[in-house]
Amino acid sequence: MKLLRVITSFKGKESMSFQLGNAIVEKIKTQHPEIDTVIRNLTKDEIPHLNELHFNSFMTPAQNLSAELKDAISYSNDALEELLPADILVIDVPMYNLSIPSSLKAWIDHIVRVGITFRYSENGAEGLLKDKKVFLAIASGGIFSEGPLKEFDLTEKYMRNVLGFLGITDITVFRVEGSAIPQFKDEALPKALQSVAAYSL
Ligand SMILES: Cc1cc2nc3c(=O)[nH]c(=O)nc-3n(C[C@H](O)[C@H](O)[C@H](O)COP(=O)(O)O)c2cc1C
Repeated sequence: MKLLRVITSFKGKESMSFQLGNAIVEKIKTQHPEIDTVIRNLTKDEIPHLNELHFNSFMTPAQNLSAELKDAISYSNDALEELLPADILVIDVPMYNLSIPSSLKAWIDHIVRVGITFRYSENGAEGLLKDKKVFLAIASGGIFSEGPLKEFDLTEKYMRNVLGFLGITDITVFRVEGSAIPQFKDEALPKALQSVAAYSL
């Protein structure tokens, strides 16, 4: 089995989403000690923002790629080489300005590839990554899983939708939330880690 871990917080080891993601990976390893883990740290890489050249490279048959298009498609191909064999993904999602980090969005723009991760069929778009399981480790200063801010959360909603577009529906969400609220901040991470500990895989 293979696991792809996607790290996205620039706070390194202090990051709540990173600590939560680590706990999820450790939990998975209790069931699958032999699992082969690949780490993609999006805060360490230069992720090219999707541009016309990238998009043209995606739409050009491999045998017709010019040197320029080969260069343009290389980030996407490398990302897919890690993604496609993965049985399980653990994605850290710190909330930045109500949404996901732009680095994660930039990575997503390189893995949504027609003919590889989705295709068009008679019934419209069809995701091709149906057998993967995803865990999201979401961290936010406020509380978004319930209450008045729920509708403002564009982390879980977006991730579920875009992964669903790729055919991934087996998605489990863990959250560290309320770390910016004085009465909840001390318990935010321990509570989230407990929810991972209590979870049956
Ligand atoms: C640039 C930035 C934007 C943020 N925007 C929000 C926000 O819109 N809503 C919120 O509840 N918390 C927000 N926060 C707080 C983070 O979501 C919170 O600190 C979370 O723990 C970040 O994840 P991390 O610890 O893995 O880095 C923001 C933090 C940063 C650094």
